[in-house]
Amino acid sequence: MTKRVAIIGAGPSGTAQLRAFQSAKEKGADIPEVVCFEKQSNWGGLWNYTWRTGLDEHGEPVHGSMYRYLWSNGPKEGLEFADYTFEEHFGKQIASYPPRAVLFDYIQGRMKKAGVRDWIRFDTVVRHVSYDDATEKFSVTAHDFNKDQEYTEEFDNVVVASGHFSTPNVPEFEGFDTFNGRVLHAHDFRDALEYKDKDILIIGTSYSAEDIGSQCWKYGCKSVTVSHRTAPMGYKWPDNWQEVPLLTKVEKNTCTFKDGTTKDVDAIILCTGYLHHFPFMAEGLKLRTANRLATADLYKGVVWVDNPKLFYLGMQDQWYTFNMFDAQAWYTRDVIMGRIDVPDRAARAQDVVDRVAAEDALEDDYGCIRYQGAYTGELIAETDYPSFDIEGANDRFFQWKKHKKENIMTFRNNGYESVMTGSMAPKHHTPWKDAMDDTLESYMKND
Ligand SMILES: Cc1cc2nc3c(=O)[nH]c(=O)nc-3n(C[C@H](O)[C@H](O)[C@H](O)COP(=O)(O)OP(=O)(O)OC[C@H]3O[C@@H](n4cnc5c(N)ncnc54)[C@H](O)[C@@H]3O)c2cc1C
Ligand SMILES: NC(=O)c1ccc[n+]([C@@H]2O[C@H](COP(=O)([O-])OP(=O)(O)OC[C@H]3O[C@@H](n4cnc5c(N)ncnc54)[C@H](OP(=O)(O)O)[C@@H]3O)[C@@H](O)[C@H]2O)c1
Repeated sequence: MTKRVAIIGAGPSGTAQLRAFQSAKEKGADIPEVVCFEKQSNWGGLWNYTWRTGLDEHGEPVHGSMYRYLWSNGPKEGLEFADYTFEEHFGKQIASYPPRAVLFDYIQGRMKKAGVRDWIRFDTVVRHVSYDDATEKFSVTAHDFNKDQEYTEEFDNVVVASGHFSTPNVPEFEGFDTFNGRVLHAHDFRDALEYKDKDILIIGTSYSAEDIGSQCWKYGCKSVTVSHRTAPMGYKWPDNWQEVPLLTKVEKNTCTFKDGTTKDVDAIILCTGYLHHFPFMAEGLKLRTANRLATADLYKGVVWVDNPKLFYLGMQDQWYTFNMFDAQAWYTRDVIMGRIDVPDRAARAQDVVDRVAAEDALEDDYGCIRYQGAYTGELIAETDYPSFDIEGANDRFFQWKKHKKENIMTFRNNGYESVMTGSMAPKHHTPWKDAMDDTLESYMKND
């Protein structure tokens, strides 16, 4: 094959795309030339931890949004690769909520086994992607930081796998400029010990709010106040944790909320989500979507409706992650390799309309989990990615939700059965709230 394929990003989505092509090659297929551009010096995407915030060593916006002591917020049984199990990687079954370093090692293990590191151009940021209707090729302009050189190459296909939890959504509240402390977004949060003995205010009620608040509580902050725009999270929180309506104004350290109550705090952490941000994509190729399960403008959630040579991976809001990215990557590979036919534009656009309507009809989180499970299964059924028990994986997510409801500070002490191997995860040796050491070595002591 003489086709050239560009992949932008070597996080879980981009590496899934590399593995998809490598797996076809391993089975004897003639695959395109694959070039993956990664702006960081290592793979793993968000799982590749950095202490940096703001700009990186090259003056680029730091990609990393993960923080120290982060443990998986969902059970690993929901994200396990069907072609590379936890047991294959670690040589044994491990507990269900691994810390970041453990999941990074797992992602990396599959890629090392695939032997595709030299398909990736590290320290190379993609600056611009355009499409020429006459030549039917994409021009990809990249900057190699090590050589400090910008260059442009042509490709037949582009797969955007640059993630969407890196560019913070930063609302402003009245009086922020008078606050005598730090106002930061979750993207810049790194070490909960910074907030030991402090009163913190968190804005937002989703995963970052819940988890950053929990981290700060675990590492000894004085109090957590969480301010909501829509509804409180409603878990049974510890005594020094309160949920309040939306912040209306800040005067020095005093925060006033919609119900007129006030609280003096030392720091304000905006857990207000992220923007889908693709400044490097030309107009007409740029995805503009809300953070939802049925993204705008992507046929089957991956193929750009207006040009089926362009793909976006992992752009959905995520219950399913790694194995859904795999399903998307295998599907994308098969479209690129001509194994799957994509229908005409009208049918592609209708597919998006139907997916959006189906998502809009969902009633609760359980429906959302089933929906994304079914989507993952739908793509897998069209490829040779190993099929797995999606109902079983949905069930692991349902158990997770039940355990969170029972006790938000102990849910990570539970274990679940792998849908890939059928083996039961052991309980972790230390309850999450007492486990201060989040290293791989410490986690692995679980025998
Ligand atoms: C704080 C936090 C915690 C999370 N925890 C969990 C969890 O516990 N479990 C879970 O399953 N999911 C979790 N997620 C969800 C996360 O989105 C996925 O696990 C996964 O990292 C998404 O993979 P990705 O490859 O799509 O994107 P990313 O991981 O963001 O990787 C994108 C890659 O693209 C590169 N890139 C970006 N722009 C360019 C460019 N212009 N040129 C070249 N390279 C570029 C980046 O450097 C990066 O390596 C979490 C997300 C956040 C923010
Ligand atoms: N340990 C972990 O594994 C971990 C930890 C953190 C994050 N994550 C992952 O990170 C991803 C992103 O999660 P996230 O919580 O950062 O983002 P998110 O799920 O998009 O949630 C954004 C939150 O911000 C609120 N918000 C947005 N704009 C606001 C405004 N102007 N005023 C007040 N509130 C506003 C939203 O409130 P409304 O409900 O009112 O819209 C919502 O509660 C998820 O995939 C999550 O799983 C994982």
